[in-house]
Amino acid sequence: MKIAIIGTGNVGGALGGSLAKAGHSVTFAGQDAEKAATVAQAAGATSASVADAIAGADAVVLAVPGSSAPAVAAANAAALAGKTVIDATNPLKADYSGLATGPDSSNAELIAAAAPGARVVKAFNTVFAGNMADAARLGTSLDALYATDDEVARAAFREVASAVGFRPVHVGPLAAARELEAMAWLNIRLQFVTNGYWQSSFGLVGAPEAALA
Ligand SMILES: NC(=O)c1ccc[n+]([C@@H]2O[C@H](COP(=O)([O-])OP(=O)(O)OC[C@H]3O[C@@H](n4cnc5c(N)ncnc54)[C@H](OP(=O)(O)O)[C@@H]3O)[C@@H](O)[C@H]2O)c1
Repeated sequence: MKIAIIGTGNVGGALGGSLAKAGHSVTFAGQDAEKAATVAQAAGATSASVADAIAGADAVVLAVPGSSAPAVAAANAAALAGKTVIDATNPLKADYSGLATGPDSSNAELIAAAAPGARVVKAFNTVFAGNMADAARLGTSLDALYATDDEVARAAFREVASAVGFRPVHVGPLAAARELEAMAWLNIRLQFVTNGYWQSSFGLVGAPEAALA
């Protein structure tokens, strides 16, 4: 699959690197073209402008700061139409005291409203970047909980998540992103209060078969 990774930081670098290693055709893009080229070189991938990366992709991963993501989607709405857009962002408040959205909204829904033709999937936001770089490092299978209304995006995400070693678990329609973003915040807060290792990840025991299909 041709995958554009928008954002060349912790998440973009880790996920893009794992996807490239799995044999996908990955293009990195960020605000800083030089940094995107460096990250791409390290991953064995290519880099491009945000517009060109999206234009050439089957699926697009949004790995930008949560507060920037709806604007990035709006600025590229026409190009995103019809494409699977994997929203890995968390709308953290600037002072890291909680979520800027919710409980009656989510970044994923803001992104879908900003790019109405995009096939938006909320996913990977509950997974720390280190686990995206190496899904096997904890010695157990990790779940990629995801939410979407779109069957095409669902199939694409299953392929992407499986390729990098995760069990994809569909937790419901895109509005379930509200809960996925809250879960991500819970896991982040856990690191703060425990001086944690940024490794803990969610797994659903006894997941219904339909959620795994
Ligand atoms: N870190 C984690 O473990 C983790 C896990 C799950 C989800 N998340 C979420 O994933 C997102 C990314 O997190 P991160 O830790 O990777 O952040 P990060 O290291 O700060 O990286 C953010 C990237 O976004 C790019 N960017 C910012 N504004 C942009 C714009 N307008 N257009 C294009 N690119 C833009 C930046 O590019 P330049 O450097 O070129 O400016 C930077 O490479 C956040 O929403 C975060 O909440 C993080």
